[in-house]
Amino acid sequence: MTRASWNGLSARKGVPPIVMVTAYDYPTARAAVRGGADVVLVGDSAAMVVLGRADTSTFPLEAAVLFTEAVARGAGTTPVVADLTAGSYEGSDAEAVRASQRLAEAGADAVKLEGAGPMCDRVRAVVASGVPVVGHLGLLPQTASATGGYVARARTADEALRLVADAEALVAAGIAMLVLEAVPSDVAAAVTKRVAVPVIGIGAGAACDGQVLVWHDLLGFGDARAARFVRRYAMLLETAADGIARFAGDVRSGAYPQVEHTYGMPAAERAAFLERLVPGEER
Ligand code: KIV
Repeated sequence: MTRASWNGLSARKGVPPIVMVTAYDYPTARAAVRGGADVVLVGDSAAMVVLGRADTSTFPLEAAVLFTEAVARGAGTTPVVADLTAGSYEGSDAEAVRASQRLAEAGADAVKLEGAGPMCDRVRAVVASGVPVVGHLGLLPQTASATGGYVARARTADEALRLVADAEALVAAGIAMLVLEAVPSDVAAAVTKRVAVPVIGIGAGAACDGQVLVWHDLLGFGDARAARFVRRYAMLLETAADGIARFAGDVRSGAYPQVEHTYGMPAAERAAFLERLVPGEER
């Protein structure tokens, strides 16, 4: 069921910019909301940052449904967008509607799909079924590995004009929001100016109506080298590894656990226990 907060957000263009952050489970959603995100994206980037896969070309819809349930619980009233996973929506309108309904039942206020062309029909079908759709153009992670890799797109006039036309076609099909990934700022600015829906950029410059980053990238919670467009706001992997190293040191030195970390038992019960314990079974 679409929440009122999503309708307000999808109609919001311009100032103040919309802040979108990915999340994959309850605590990452809680952190995103407490940090003031306007919208949380259950990105299929989970395939890479959570599951450690090479790309997002394989990520089961079942996993996206599970992650969406957890994120929706953590996000409270903050709108949640969930990625339709590669292979779950491209084949037919019926397939796209079925996958979208599953994500919506799991708590998504909208679903996101990649590409234009035939995907415009999928957008129309999913919107007609009652689930708002977010488009995604520019670098399309689900097919990036097979189409030239993780490099910026629309850097020639022809490609840039095609991207503008694709954006307009998706808007005409009914998308409520558009994500633009890794495209020149001038191209993103032109799209943002021309379309009526909010445009959220990731590596698309400052003229967009909002910005999105992947949780693990912006918080430094991964081993991978960050893309050019990422700014890191924390180094959580180091913080976590440091905490675990101190725990390991304490366990090995005997400094942990201490009495205050343990449970006792009433003196009489302890005495009875020790008395009845079969000799030789205690450690
Ligand atoms: O899956 C994801 O995290 C995304 C963002 C890169 C926008 O689609």
